[in-house]
Amino acid sequence: MEAAPSQEHGRQHDRRQAGWRPLHDQVLDVSDDDDYNLALDQAGEALSCAGRVVVLSGAGISAESGVPTFREAQTGLWARFSPADLASPEAFAKDPERIWAWYHWRRTLIARGGPNAGHHALAQLAEIKSLQTITQNVDGLHQAAGSRRVAELHGNIWRERCSECDHARLVPMAEAQGDAPVRCRDCGAMMRPAIVWFGEMLPQTALVAADAALAEADCVIVVGTSNQVYPAAALVDTAVAGATPVIEINPQETPVSQHVDHRLAASASRALPDLVARLS
Ligand code: OAD
Repeated sequence: MEAAPSQEHGRQHDRRQAGWRPLHDQVLDVSDDDDYNLALDQAGEALSCAGRVVVLSGAGISAESGVPTFREAQTGLWARFSPADLASPEAFAKDPERIWAWYHWRRTLIARGGPNAGHHALAQLAEIKSLQTITQNVDGLHQAAGSRRVAELHGNIWRERCSECDHARLVPMAEAQGDAPVRCRDCGAMMRPAIVWFGEMLPQTALVAADAALAEADCVIVVGTSNQVYPAAALVDTAVAGATPVIEINPQETPVSQHVDHRLAASASRALPDLVARLS
């Protein structure tokens, strides 16, 4: 298992800071239906045999909802914006208006797109199997599709917390409006998005839930993540190093693609419904 550097334990950072480079922008041949169908049959069999399923999801599952991913060339958010400028406590302290405008823009895209066929397929899977979803996404789209057991490793864009005191509030997706920063009703300090920014600690409850679910899982589905951001990527590394079958769904190769048991080189909105359909 490729472990996170010890001083970064529990803190968000990027695999590339540790020297990893993407393989290349290789899109596997999703049009080769024979290969896809064979992989689907085998992955479907592994999933059929499982009682407890864990899904580890990333930005790719929401791409077809119109929510941009982070690291894809051209379209990824980090291809256009700098994480240090928009996703760090220092950036927020320097220019909260700018940070809020960015998060309000992303909220608008999420609310407009809503959950897609991939999110809905997972909600359907939860009716058939015991399912724990562990997501790096902050968009709340798993829950909007009806998934109930969702551990959010990087927080939730619909939650706000005070930058000074303990006050927090949830903004319903339908009610999000305006892009002016909000002040805390208790202490008057600036509210901030309840999102884990670079250099910040992940919520302990989500990490504990993730470890416990992975320890009991009979099958793990890794969908729509580049597997580059730690400590989330360490959960995938652990799953891949263990004996539990791992299915990866991603049109592009990731650092773990060569090591998973089943690889579906297709979009989440195609592969997840196909996989769940294999169960009925
Ligand atoms: P990335 O942007 O790093 O990776 C997205 C992955 O989704 C890539 O591997 C794509 O190939 C894949 N992908 C794209 N479209 C897809 C589709 N339709 N179906 C399936 N897969 C698809 O996103 P994450 O790995 O989620 O942190 O990034 C992790 C974290 O980095 C994010 O949570 C975010 C960011 O900094 C925070 O916001 C706190």
